[in-house]
Amino acid sequence: MGNILSARKKKNFSKHDIGNKKIEKEPLKYFLPNFVKDTDIMVILHFLGCYLFQSIQSAPIENRLASGCKVLDVGCGPGTWLLDLAAVYNSSSFFGIDLVPIFPKEIKPHNVEFRQGDVLDTLPYDDNTFDYVHQGNMLSVFTFDEWHFVIRELIRVCKPGGYIEFTEPELATETGPILSKFYESLIVLSESRNVKIRISSEIIKILESLSTVKNVDYRLSTVTLGTKKGGNAGQAYMDVHDGYFLNDPMPETLCEFMGLTREEYFKLFKEAKKEVNERFAPNCDIYRVWCQKIQGSHTN
Ligand SMILES: C[S@@+](CC[C@H](N)C(=O)[O-])C[C@H]1O[C@@H](n2cnc3c(N)ncnc32)[C@H](O)[C@@H]1O
Repeated sequence: MGNILSARKKKNFSKHDIGNKKIEKEPLKYFLPNFVKDTDIMVILHFLGCYLFQSIQSAPIENRLASGCKVLDVGCGPGTWLLDLAAVYNSSSFFGIDLVPIFPKEIKPHNVEFRQGDVLDTLPYDDNTFDYVHQGNMLSVFTFDEWHFVIRELIRVCKPGGYIEFTEPELATETGPILSKFYESLIVLSESRNVKIRISSEIIKILESLSTVKNVDYRLSTVTLGTKKGGNAGQAYMDVHDGYFLNDPMPETLCEFMGLTREEYFKLFKEAKKEVNERFAPNCDIYRVWCQKIQGSHTN
């Protein structure tokens, strides 16, 4: 369990140095910004997901949530998912953990607690603590090896019979040539650092390979990027997509890789958006993947 962690510690890897020159040698750490101004993007993504799936979550856990259980959200960000669920199921207890404390500290419901922590340092909870463990929108946060570690960690803190759920968006398909250029660069750059951008199918494969979980299942919802064919949902997803590509550290990182100045990068992205709105209708899949921890499986 400690191999990935110790590998990272040996490298003395800093979590906040994306965009500086060291990125050439070190694993791509975290593309999405996590400053307070960027929480809007996470909030939009949460509500868009709720609209597309017509629910806050998909694992079959409603009865337990209604009668009172313990829920953990890993990488909770501003805590939107937890706060939304906590408002519906007020006899359950909700716990959020994030590397960066962008969650509410004081003004929050009585049944919600947040704490700062790094899942890669192992979660600060005992084995078999939670009935339901969730993690959302972490594509590009972890290397592929780290994903294996994180998934086992989520399973470890889940009770036997409890559920673990992941929500992850995928890059769009049926893109035009300009947006494809951005995607191809992102994929090549990420793969060179052992980061898989299209992570949902990998999560399914990992879960199916583990003997500690069963009933691996998923739901898929598709949104068309841009207003022309995607309507309001497509516009909302376009805002998220803009945030992903236009807020640092992504431009800093991709500019260099694509051989563009910052100005050229923004100009080309504007053309990619025009292409989306006028000529193409790329489809983005959002996955919710869940599984159940096997009864009698007391640790991972
Ligand atoms: C894109 S945000 C998603 C936030 C939230 N899950 C959501 O869907 O709105 C990714 C979050 O993961 C957090 N994060 C990144 N690496 C982490 C780690 N090693 N341990 C815990 N949280 C981490 C970031 O600080 C950020 O808040």
